[in-house]
Amino acid sequence: MSVMDYDEVYRSSRPPWQIGGPQPALAPVLDNEVRGPKVLDVGCGTGDLALSLARRGFEVTAVDISAVAIGQAREKAAAEGLTVHFDAQDATHLSLTDGPFNSIFDSGLLHSLQRVDQQHVDDYLSQLPGLAAPGAAVFVLAMSIESGEGWGLTEAFLHACFPAPTWTATTVEPITITAEPDGERLSLRGFLLRTTRA
Ligand SMILES: C[S@@+](CC[C@H](N)C(=O)[O-])C[C@H]1O[C@@H](n2cnc3c(N)ncnc32)[C@H](O)[C@@H]1O
Repeated sequence: MSVMDYDEVYRSSRPPWQIGGPQPALAPVLDNEVRGPKVLDVGCGTGDLALSLARRGFEVTAVDISAVAIGQAREKAAAEGLTVHFDAQDATHLSLTDGPFNSIFDSGLLHSLQRVDQQHVDDYLSQLPGLAAPGAAVFVLAMSIESGEGWGLTEAFLHACFPAPTWTATTVEPITITAEPDGERLSLRGFLLRTTRA
């Protein structure tokens, strides 16, 4: 998908991944596992996860390729009086000055890039070691190839994205991803990867 396609998606309708809050599978992470103070959300959409992190007191930077989504995210933050540094940026060519980050979240970005091509995945992943502070936590929520949607990632693919020695204590857990196409709530098979920057 190109920049224009995502802008069009956000402009014309509520996308199926926009469920009014962070993915429920991230609840235990949000409650107990976020390392601060600085947190990055890559591919943040309209900012529900980033806002949830800001409410918990973290210093949040959140980027998305869609300027339309970022505009909607800024409106939500302003309505709540929350401070989040939202910026329209392509995750394959990030330019961030407020890192390194103590936690990095990717809720649905990696699987979106993998649908484009491997080069997008490689360009994105190559930046993460430099954005993550030593000991930083990275969380990736991604659709499984077994979701029945005709696309998605495997557990082996996810592990290969975060190789040792740069990344340590990597785990991949099967989880449920929630989507709302046409207002109907769906549960889809996915994965939650956790890893730590050495
Ligand atoms: C499946 S949605 C997930 C949105 C949000 N993280 C959530 O959990 O609801 C994927 C997001 O990645 C964004 N995206 C796709 N390609 C991107 C890129 N190259 N750089 C930054 N964001 C991108 C899309 O605009 C979209 O908001």
